Amino acid sequence: MRLKDEVFVLTGAQGGMGKATVNRFLEEGAYVAALDLNVDSLEKTDRLLPIAVNLTDENLVAKAFSQINSEFGKISGLVNIAGIAQPATSIEQVTLADWDKIMAVNATAPFLTCREVTPYLKEQGRGVIVNISSISMIRPRPGLNAYVASKGAVVSLSQALAIELAEYGIRVNVVNPGPSDTNMLGQFTAKGASTEDTKETIFKKSVPLGRLIQPIDIANSLVYLCSDEAAIVTGAVMNVDGGRGI
Ligand SMILES: NC(=O)c1ccc[n+]([C@@H]2O[C@H](COP(=O)([O-])OP(=O)(O)OC[C@H]3O[C@@H](n4cnc5c(N)ncnc54)[C@H](O)[C@@H]3O)[C@@H](O)[C@H]2O)c1
Repeated sequence: MRLKDEVFVLTGAQGGMGKATVNRFLEEGAYVAALDLNVDSLEKTDRLLPIAVNLTDENLVAKAFSQINSEFGKISGLVNIAGIAQPATSIEQVTLADWDKIMAVNATAPFLTCREVTPYLKEQGRGVIVNISSISMIRPRPGLNAYVASKGAVVSLSQALAIELAEYGIRVNVVNPGPSDTNMLGQFTAKGASTEDTKETIFKKSVPLGRLIQPIDIANSLVYLCSDEAAIVTGAVMNVDGGRGI
């Protein structure tokens, strides 16, 4: 029980990595607030509080954190997993609306949740935040311009907060997944290309260890970073990518 009786807020909780992470955190003894646009597949229990919320809406985000604190009496940490993909698109074809949407979900929403959780963590005198970026942030793939930029913002924000919040005992780290076997992977495919072919011929082949990353790989890394085993780890960017970033 590496997270026994700690209260974690997990975003993107109904997605591929999110669901695996909710399950792992429950197994490790945590209380979990599971946030996503839609939480129909998550059943409320004593330990699991599903909340449907659009994370780009600052008022709804504030309301969700206040509800979580009332329900569980404290908040120990936040893991930002929610995100959206970008179909590979040449820069000339990327509209301002495309850019704004990707930045809103992938960069502004983590800003809002990090801002909102901070007073609760300061109140505890300790806490942990982990933000999911992407290995494409350091090893970009053509056509993922807005997505890569949004994920770069996540790393910079996380490292800025790691230094700012260290004096309060709050750790802030990043996980960079490599190509992962979730619904999102197919959404990076250029218009007209076959998703299954792209998965096999491009994504799987790009991983030196020879397989796609599984949601459980990400969930396990998040358990570690959120546990006391990582008590001296902050400002770190952990690649969980089978070597794709080398
Ligand atoms: N799948 C990959 O290959 C891969 C690789 C590197 C990084 N990532 C990152 O990992 C994270 C998880 O991805 P996944 O593969 O589990 O994808 P996924 O699509 O299965 O899950 C993403 C979840 O985020 C939620 N979400 C999107 N916009 C939201 C909003 N405005 N408010 C609340 N929730 C919202 C979605 O509803 C979805 O459940 C993302 O941040 C993604 O960018 C994924």
